Order: sequence, then structure tokens, then C-alpha cells
Amino acid sequence: MTITIKDIAKEANVSIATVSRVINNKDESIRKDTKERIKTIIRKHNYQPNRIARSMITKKTATLGLIIPDIQNPFFPELVRGVEDFANENEYSVILCNTDGDLNRERKYLDLMKEKNVDGIIYTYAFAELSKPLKGFLEENNIPMVLLDRAEPNSKMSGVYVDNEKAGYMATKHLISLNHKKIGCITGPEHIENSKERFSGYYQALKEANIPLDKEIIFTGDYQMKGGYKAAKGLIKKEVTAIFTFNDLMAFGVYQAAAELGRKIPDDLSVIGFDNIKYNHLLVPKLTTIEQSSYKMGENAVELLLKQIKGTPEQEKETIIIEPLLMINESTSQNKL
Ligand code: RIB
Repeated sequence: MTITIKDIAKEANVSIATVSRVINNKDESIRKDTKERIKTIIRKHNYQPNRIARSMITKKTATLGLIIPDIQNPFFPELVRGVEDFANENEYSVILCNTDGDLNRERKYLDLMKEKNVDGIIYTYAFAELSKPLKGFLEENNIPMVLLDRAEPNSKMSGVYVDNEKAGYMATKHLISLNHKKIGCITGPEHIENSKERFSGYYQALKEANIPLDKEIIFTGDYQMKGGYKAAKGLIKKEVTAIFTFNDLMAFGVYQAAAELGRKIPDDLSVIGFDNIKYNHLLVPKLTTIEQSSYKMGENAVELLLKQIKGTPEQEKETIIIEPLLMINESTSQNKL
């Protein structure tokens, strides 16, 4: 027979609410001997609180929602792992949703999370800041939310991001230090805040070195391999000596284009990516890139969200900025021209 909270209360000769307060450590007002009697009975029957029943009393399910835009991009699983591990350490489960940038799917998942009564949501938007479905959902529901990886300009929400501008500056500065002046740039999708910030870093480094910005060698990418491949074919024809891509998947596309056009990396063309995804070590030559510490970003996002869940509704907005690391490998070398 499954022991219920009702059975525990009956045996301890107290109310269900009293047992619940002891289970949820909200038992300051309960006499010590009563608390001990209830805990002894719980241990005797090895009683496990029913999550659904508990949620009906505490209105919490110890579950977090996590929405990401592209599960196939190796950057995101590392981010998800950081969220899941830290959530589990704090006895929270995670519902993972992948939107592929589909706004209908996004709203469906948001409604699912409301139905599952998640305690909070961690969100990485797909293309263009916060979508209308999400803004509508937030207006209709007072649910704690933290942005992860992609900021929303002037947002009131807490968030965790790498210092994208500094990272873009570091990557470009590295190429300039190797005497590259004609540095092609393949950005992310133009409305994504982190792509704009990386571009700002690229521009700052060029300006500091008195290298004029050449719009002819700046291509808008899509954070996908095919976008990197297409842009690289154009850039190689313009005789750039180096290419900075705003993520590693697009750098894979650059490798493919360089091979097709007979350019050796790094002898003829230096390449630097962004993300330091785990498959980079399979590339020959190994890709020079920017480490985002995405696992740590995921952990920090959970930390901020739990603060909101356990804190007061007017919890102050908090932003965590992660320091980027330049990982110099074999795909960049001195410009001989
Ligand atoms: O590779 C995917 C890109 O989009 C990464 O640079 C990450 O920052 C995400 O926003």
C-alpha cells in the first residue's frame, strides 16, 4: 500500500498541512516534539512526497523550463548540460524545448511549461530579440525567466552572456598581430544581439590598428555551416588573407570552401571561429577559436533563476558576464603578403 501524506498525518495525530510544513522545512512554528514525531513516522514508512501533491500545496514543481533555438548546433548541448547538472544538484528537473526558431512551436512550448507549472524558464531566443509570442506569454504570466547567451537590448530580465564585444576584439586583434589587414568577417544572423556585439569588437580592433572597415568583405552569416561556406567562397574570391567567423560551425564551412578553391589553411588563409565546440579537435588544422565556457554559462543561468524563484517578486535584475578565452591553435599564421 502506498503511504500518503494523509496516512502520516493520521498516525501523527496532526493535520495534513502540518506534515506538509515539516516536509518543506517551513516548520518554524511547530513544536519540536511534534516535528520529531512526524519525521520518525516519515522515516518508518520511507514516505516519498508525491511531486504533484506537493506542487498542489507549495505551488512549486521543482521543475525548470529551458528553451534553445538549435539543438543540432554543438554549442547548445554543452550549455544544456551546465543547466541540467546544476539544476539536478539543486533537486530541480529540466524540461528541454528546441524551437528551431519556429514561433508557433515556441508558443506551444511556453504553454506546455505553464501547463506543467514549471517554477521558472531559461531562454535563448532564435533570431530577433524576444518574439511577440514570448512577450505575450510574459505579460499574461508572472513566471521567473532568465535570458541565456543572447541578450535583449534594455531588457528588465536577468541574463548570462559571454563578453561578446571583447571576444570579437580579441579574435580580430590576434589576426592583426599576425600582420593580416584584409580580414573577412562572417557575422551571425543580423538581429541577434551577440552577433552585433562581436562585430563591434571586430570594428574596434580594426580602428585601433588604423585598418579601414571594408564593407565588401563583411558577409552576414546564419550560424550554420552552409552560411559559412557560401560567404567564404565570396571572401576567398576577394583575396582576403584571413576570415573571422562568429561561430565554429560557419568556420567548418570556410574549411570546405577553402578546400574547393585550392586554398591551404593557414598558409593561404587564416581562419578563426567562435564557441570552441568539442568537434574542433577533428579539424585539420585545429581551429583557433574563442572559448565561451558555455557549461559555466548554463550553471550561472540556473543560479540566477533559483534566486528569483526563492526570492521576492521584485528581485533585482542581475547580469553575469563570462570572460572569453582566445584558444590559439593551428588555423592562424603570419601573413606573408
Ligand atoms: O553557434 C551558435 C552561436 O549562437 C554561438 O556563438 C552562441 O553564442 C549562440 O548564440
